[in-house]
Amino acid sequence: MSASEFWNQKYQTDEYIFGKAPNDFIKAVTPLASAQETAYAPADGEGRNGVFLAHMGYQVTSSDIAELAVAKARALAAEKNLSVNALVADCLNPPFADNSFDLVAVCFMHFRYEDNVLFMEANKRLLKPGGLFILEGYTRDQIPCNSGGPKNPDMMLSAEGLCQTFSGYDIQLLQEVRRNLNEGPRHQGMAATVQLLAKKPI
Ligand SMILES: C[S@@+](CC[C@H](N)C(=O)[O-])C[C@H]1O[C@@H](n2cnc3c(N)ncnc32)[C@H](O)[C@@H]1O
Repeated sequence: MSASEFWNQKYQTDEYIFGKAPNDFIKAVTPLASAQETAYAPADGEGRNGVFLAHMGYQVTSSDIAELAVAKARALAAEKNLSVNALVADCLNPPFADNSFDLVAVCFMHFRYEDNVLFMEANKRLLKPGGLFILEGYTRDQIPCNSGGPKNPDMMLSAEGLCQTFSGYDIQLLQEVRRNLNEGPRHQGMAATVQLLAKKPI
């Protein structure tokens, strides 16, 4: 089964399975946009984070590989009367020019090692010099928890791995935390995550 088939099955419900409110970390650290600033939310699912970024004043591109997710993201933006460019796209091969975005926000996106390298390299390329990279994902300590995420240790993130991936960036915050998740019916309860806030060098 392809990734889009897998995820379309999950999104085949009127419910927003990850909720309509943004991820707590993205909400906490995203600055208000200056005029015309752009943001990219890859693998944005039903659009909760892309819509929040639009609320913060960014011109937002939200993408996901699952058509049903993108349809729900468009509906959420319309419900909030916000403008979001939501489109179906593979975040491993994104159809955008390098240095396009002032901010990239990644939330709970987990790939196997080789694809994760491609994903991070693509995101880094798309970020403008001086742009802000925000990420929250699960660590291996999440595996015994029931609050979401994959169970494959190779797909989990770590502060050490992100420190290497973002070497040369100005890392403003990088921490592994245990926190209580309350982000839609699929993300409930104690979780083990890593949080990153980093600026691309100019
Ligand atoms: C755990 S969900 C997280 C959704 C969203 N970031 C959130 O936190 O609400 C992972 C998302 O990644 C999407 N996805 C998986 N593989 C993808 C790919 N290659 N390109 C774009 N999206 C992908 C899925 O369709 C799904 O919406």
